[in-house]
Amino acid sequence: MAGTKSPEDAYTAAPFVPEGADLGALREAAAGCRGCPLHRDATRTVFGAGDPGARVMLVGEQPGDQEDRQGKPFVGPAGKVLDRALDEAGIDPDETYVTNAVKHFKFTHVPERGKRRIHKPPSLREISACGPWLEAEVELIEPEVIVALGATAGKALLGSSFRVTKERGTRLESDASGPAHGGLVVPTIHPSAVLRADDREAVYGDLVADLRVAAEVLG
Ligand code: URA
Repeated sequence: MAGTKSPEDAYTAAPFVPEGADLGALREAAAGCRGCPLHRDATRTVFGAGDPGARVMLVGEQPGDQEDRQGKPFVGPAGKVLDRALDEAGIDPDETYVTNAVKHFKFTHVPERGKRRIHKPPSLREISACGPWLEAEVELIEPEVIVALGATAGKALLGSSFRVTKERGTRLESDASGPAHGGLVVPTIHPSAVLRADDREAVYGDLVADLRVAAEVLG
């Protein structure tokens, strides 16, 4: 029926985000987020982690299988690629804050792969439902530059028309009304794209080159 709202329209983390909270209180509150249905199948909320005084904030898509089990972002194979690339670009991984656009693991099962949980990309509604957590993290960390790792992070920070192939490796000013509050965003590919690529060295080299653009912002 025209004008009827589907239940998905109501997806938002906003009522779960405490006002004036510090990072610890945010993390605790995020553990109980029911702002969209993804909490139902995931093991836990995976909140951001790292240096609270970081000048660089890295935003991925969503936790993967390992992250869902361990409760920390980028602890699986993509995280290893990311740490190596950051280091090579001149950014100390220990001096960054790392988080995801979506804080719960979204997955499916396919019969031929048995019990394995297969990653499923979040929808635009799920990305925007989770936006209040990302916004609260940006407000507390106040990074000088945010690196958007892949299309989902780019859409979360720069809007749904973002295209990673067109905009990667550039400095972009985000919308003042978006989760990055007008802050500087440097988009690049998701590090897992390196692991899927036929020519891993070339794709890895491109990731490092994009991260150098973020490193240059820091001077
Ligand atoms: N991929 C992501 O986007 N984030 C993680 O935390 C792990 C894998």
